[in-house]
Amino acid sequence: MALTQDEMKQEVAKAAIEYVEAGTIIGVGTGSTANCFIDELAKIKGKIEGTVASSVASADRLKAHGIPVFELNDVNGLSVYVDGADESTHHLHLVKGGGGALTREKIVAAASKKFVCIADESKLVDRLGKFPLPVEVIPMARSLVAREIIKQIGGQPVLREGFTTDNGNIILDIHELDILDPIEVETTLNMITGVVTNGLFAKRPADILLLGTQNGVKTLS
Ligand code: A5P
Repeated sequence: MALTQDEMKQEVAKAAIEYVEAGTIIGVGTGSTANCFIDELAKIKGKIEGTVASSVASADRLKAHGIPVFELNDVNGLSVYVDGADESTHHLHLVKGGGGALTREKIVAAASKKFVCIADESKLVDRLGKFPLPVEVIPMARSLVAREIIKQIGGQPVLREGFTTDNGNIILDIHELDILDPIEVETTLNMITGVVTNGLFAKRPADILLLGTQNGVKTLS
């Protein structure tokens, strides 16, 4: 019988437990696949010192399981970061931020020795951009940033209505992009004044992608 998308998410979440180093503090991402990972982590919570979460929602879920959650500023570094993605290439360049947690995700990933991405096979693409690329923006710069995006990289920036990030900012989702050079687009967007960060993880891609497929979990690195 064919696996559902949810079953594939559960399989990769289980597989990611292998990458959790005993006695360390680990980074935990955001989204439905990361939630599956949190539920798996609860089963071995005595083996780790604790976690740093990339969102308030994930911190709440971790705490509900009785898993310690630290502030990033209070720890020296993280052994591994486990999180989902909205799109991944075979080079493990990612688009993230569908849940709006991209900035904290990027910070926690940057603080981690290893980034293990977990996703079902629908997320693997040849080229990034079909999933609208999220950009976190300081609210007063919304119009300026939207104009600069159109001028500098193209696409159609659309305000994510009724959404405020955990950092108090807005999200512009860039539609109709075909991202040929993810590192260049990531860098160009970061240089626009008023942009906090963008959802491309190309300068710091995932180190390992655990991909849930109908034939089991595939490991790409
Ligand atoms: C959260 O901001 C995102 O980066 C998520 O990691 C991404 O949206 C994947 O979410 P799902 O696991 O729910 O598909």
